[in-house]
Amino acid sequence: MSAIALVLKWGLTLPIVVVVLAVAYRLQQEPLLGPSSSSPETYCYKGVRTHDEALPAARCFSVIDGAFTAVWSDAGAGAEDDSVQARDGYVVPGLWDGHGHLLQYGEFLHSVDLFGSQTLQQVRDRVTAYVAENPGAGSKDNWIRGVGWDQTFFGRMPTAADIEQDDSLRGVYMMLDRIDVHCTWVSQAVLDFLPADLPAVVPGGEIVREPGMGVFCDNAMDLVMDLWPKPGPELKARHVRSAMRKLNEVGLVGMHDAGATPETLTLYSRLADSDDDWTLRVYAMLECPQRNTYCPGEAVRFARDDHRFAVQSIKLFADGALGSWGSAMLEPYADHPWTSGSLLINASALTDVSKRWAADGYQVNIHAIGDLANRNAVDALEAALSQQCPDEVEKQGHLHALAACQARHRFRIEHAQIIHPHDQRRIHALGILPSIQPTHATSDMKYALDRLGPDRLANSAYRMRSLLPARPVLGSDFPVEPPNPFQGIYAAVARRSPATGRGADGGPDGWYADHALTLDEALWGFTGAPAYGAFLDGRAGVIREGALADWVVLDRPVESYDVEDLRTLSVKETWVGGKRVYVRPEQ
Ligand SMILES: *[C@@H]1O[C@H](CO)[C@@H](O)[C@H](O)[C@H]1NC(C)=O
Ligand SMILES: [Zn+2]
Repeated sequence: MSAIALVLKWGLTLPIVVVVLAVAYRLQQEPLLGPSSSSPETYCYKGVRTHDEALPAARCFSVIDGAFTAVWSDAGAGAEDDSVQARDGYVVPGLWDGHGHLLQYGEFLHSVDLFGSQTLQQVRDRVTAYVAENPGAGSKDNWIRGVGWDQTFFGRMPTAADIEQDDSLRGVYMMLDRIDVHCTWVSQAVLDFLPADLPAVVPGGEIVREPGMGVFCDNAMDLVMDLWPKPGPELKARHVRSAMRKLNEVGLVGMHDAGATPETLTLYSRLADSDDDWTLRVYAMLECPQRNTYCPGEAVRFARDDHRFAVQSIKLFADGALGSWGSAMLEPYADHPWTSGSLLINASALTDVSKRWAADGYQVNIHAIGDLANRNAVDALEAALSQQCPDEVEKQGHLHALAACQARHRFRIEHAQIIHPHDQRRIHALGILPSIQPTHATSDMKYALDRLGPDRLANSAYRMRSLLPARPVLGSDFPVEPPNPFQGIYAAVARRSPATGRGADGGPDGWYADHALTLDEALWGFTGAPAYGAFLDGRAGVIREGALADWVVLDRPVESYDVEDLRTLSVKETWVGGKRVYVRPEQ
């Protein structure tokens, strides 16, 4: 029945007609994720874990217009109502990935998967298989893309010549990203396409020349990126759709996109209008077309009442990745003592750009891996807080005032991987949010000791437990790591690889297990903590009246799983905004 028919039937007066029409108009303008009827749907499960301290365990909840309207524990109550659906399974609040890359994950799903390739021959085989399945890939307009190679398996950096070795691949246009996406490996055709006068040195980057040309790291990747024919809006939309489907499959209802250009964010905003295609909440960080700059002319901000998509944060990058010795360290690398990595932006410029974005009301989120990068990030964020809250600092004294100020600004350090103990204390005191990927620890454990040496590893690296009071936001950095949050939870709880179940030495012991989290803490890291980091505390990551109706159904209560079973756990159903977006096929 239309709003107008309702009004006529009930003979309401004109002011109410206006209100009803205004509401109807608004619903039409801002489609909600749930069915836009206003009659409640009520679901009763065998158990509901709520993350609500007032009622931690429940059985039933009602949903109207995409939000929970009631949560209660007696499954009998309300049973006389026909609209109650008694359902199988155990519910947890919808899971969020606190740091991922949506579009890149979609591109990954449509590209060559190189994760785990042990040899150059395996890489060639996977590319050849991909080309067989994707006719036309490798032309000048349609480069082959791939991600996941790791030179530590090959014993040396790969080269363009390694690709040319395969007759069927000779002459293809190709660009394959390293596992950490901080380097890319290109084919001879792409090398030939680059300007002949490549710079000898690229600040904040490297053109790898030994044992031959082919790999470009960090800022030097831009040389290649500028030539790569980028996918248009239609292809991007397809990538986003594929990514969302896959993310729903592993129990994700939302994600923080750790850096997208204004153009991509504007596309997201348009796509978010579609009920059928946009099945995941996205809290995205703006990345200026020119990295680490202040770009107010191109800056975008988005907010929606339905919380499907929001942009109010800026992503900056202090350094590169550990795997390619790109992270900026206070002391040289143990296995490359001639270098301590490189900053992508110097300390004063980082502080300056952070303050400018903070002054415009943006949450400032800085990528920092090495202990020098983390120190600079803490310095920059502290300076930005002092700038934002001068009156409070005056009144209350420095640290206390800054912590209160930070509770409103919620500045974050993305990765927060290697942090000097002194700076760990500053992070606690200021309340800066560390955004951590537990599977990075278990992927890096095979070479972290080589890079860092024993002392730095033991005191500064891959903290989780000791960062707890600072509310770590957990994530995966997909497509760098697989997006399954239960694998992240496993890595956090067991400190072993979710792929193998093994520790650093291939044995059964967790890696620095004193830094493990409990299951409750890890689950919070994928629910309540990312909600807080996205200014959605009380609305997301929790099942209670007024929260967004997002939930995940498991076969058993989550705490009843054996730790080893977490790494292969598959979810039964995923619901976003009161709408079921994934059902596991019957086996
Ligand atoms: C830091 O970088 C900025 C911008 O690139 C530059 O203008 C400035 O001179 C640099 N400062 C130092 C101390 O190197
Ligand atoms: Zn990332």
